[in-house]
Amino acid sequence: MRIVLVGPPGAGKGTQAAYLAKNLAIPHISTGDLFRANISQGTPLGVEAKSYMDAGNLVPDSVTIGMAEDRMEQPDAADGFLLDGFPRNLGQAEALDVYLKGRNLKLDAVLDLEVPEDEVVKRIAGRRICRKDSSHVFHAEYNKPKAEGVCDVCGGELYQRDDDREETVRKRLEVYHTETEPIIDYYKAQDLVVTIPALGKVAEVTQRAMSALENGE
Ligand code: AP5
Repeated sequence: MRIVLVGPPGAGKGTQAAYLAKNLAIPHISTGDLFRANISQGTPLGVEAKSYMDAGNLVPDSVTIGMAEDRMEQPDAADGFLLDGFPRNLGQAEALDVYLKGRNLKLDAVLDLEVPEDEVVKRIAGRRICRKDSSHVFHAEYNKPKAEGVCDVCGGELYQRDDDREETVRKRLEVYHTETEPIIDYYKAQDLVVTIPALGKVAEVTQRAMSALENGE
């Protein structure tokens, strides 16, 4: 299966992607995680991306599209993938269509995680992620690690993302509404969008998403 996950910052895309990718046996490809891995390794791409991310803006398409395509070319993605945070504007959505068409492939679904803005703000405020692997995500209240400040998965140190400061979150939400939301209509026109109410326990949301995929809703 080839799936796109879309939703505002803090909607739970990364959290859900980890479970859905495991259930569907496909890799979870998060452009945010790829950028953060580059930042922690101090690569030129990471240095460039950090300035945009810290300001709450999108990293330019000239960098992002190539990085996402390189990742989709990896052997583990040959039979499918779950894209989290890509595409994030119309240019990226069009580029993805061209990429897939060139390989005779198509998307199976676009899952739109729907969460009210006040909940998103609470989720981001309490989010803690792992320094060793930013796809390991916890919450100070809703999804506590077993030992405070320590990742359950790999023992890494948990910390608050630089772009989770209040003013940056406001900017990220604004960018989501202006640049990312239009891709939902773009994919509705292709009859690919499934809206998943994303309030409730993590496992309940995963169940809704899995049922929607299984029933082809
Ligand atoms: P990215 O890392 O993709 O961030 P985002 O889209 O803003 O999404 P988040 O990671 O903030 O949230 P999420 O929806 O994954 O929520 P999570 O599962 O963590 O991108 C960061 C930056 O990179 C961008 O701003 C941009 O600069 C750049 N970038 C990335 N991709 C790009 C692209 N394609 N083009 C250009 N630039 C790009 O959950 C949030 C919290 O809620 C967690 O603490 C979690 O434990 C908790 N939680 C989750 N589900 C529940 C639940 N059901 N109940 C209670 N708590 C929950």
